[in-house]
Amino acid sequence: MIQASPAKITIRALRVFHGQEESLRGISLDIPANQVLGIIGPSGAGKTTFLRALNRLNDLVPDMHAEGQILLDGKDIYHPACDVVALRKRVGMLFALPVALPMSIYENVVYGPRLSGVRKKTHLDEVVERSLKAAFLWDEVKDRLRMSGLRLSGGQQQRLCLARVLAMEELEVILLDEPCSGLDPISTSKIEDALTILKERYTIILVTNNTKQAARVADETAFFLMGDMVEYGLTEKIFTVPDDKRTNDYVTGRFG
Ligand SMILES: Nc1ncnc2c1ncn2[C@@H]1O[C@H](COP(=O)(O)OP(=O)(O)O)[C@@H](O)[C@H]1O
Ligand SMILES: [Mg+2]
Repeated sequence: MIQASPAKITIRALRVFHGQEESLRGISLDIPANQVLGIIGPSGAGKTTFLRALNRLNDLVPDMHAEGQILLDGKDIYHPACDVVALRKRVGMLFALPVALPMSIYENVVYGPRLSGVRKKTHLDEVVERSLKAAFLWDEVKDRLRMSGLRLSGGQQQRLCLARVLAMEELEVILLDEPCSGLDPISTSKIEDALTILKERYTIILVTNNTKQAARVADETAFFLMGDMVEYGLTEKIFTVPDDKRTNDYVTGRFG
């Protein structure tokens, strides 16, 4: 399971500052393709900041700047020539709070492709079916695609948001920031099942405040604490025989 191919994402000495405060203190990490990387750590550790650096969502935050390098397929995403809109199509993100758009289930899914100029109905129909199936939502909504997405339950809305991310044909990397934090157990397990299949095609980075979720889903896990990556390795090792006492304390629930 250790990577045999070059990393999908290479991170070198990544530092992120919010004003004077250093929120990430020099993270270096190679993220392999076709795996789920779990990121765990207490609140304020820098997990969200790290995810948002990977598709340059941090650019939108005033007074924030990043140093170091992030390479996607060997190309620097902070290079002036990098097209940020194209980057965000390749590196999609799912947030903690599901936000269905105030439109039909169908239109929620095809939102991105429509913006990219896809018009053909047969093509859009295919995108909807493929994406909803991959998000484990199709069976629950296939007979009411014209219903408002807002009428779905929270857990269904989160899977709808996942389907919207998956609808992007350029998608290669999926970032998830505590995607199941407010969800019922059934929706949570459907998302986890979806990720286990989606990793065959995508690179997945899952931030979770639920260590058991990382243990269930992640191939490799990184433990963040106060802006540092304390430890990174195979999930089984991180959860059974971590090298660092702080990792052990966290995964055994002694703090956090
Ligand atoms: N928009 C922001 N402005 C100022 N500081 C921020 C902002 N976002 C995050 N931070 C700071 O960065 C640090 C890491 O936060 P965050 O990445 O949200 O951690 P986590 O997701 O692990 O809870 C915290 O100290 C937080 O106060
Ligand atoms: Mg966070």
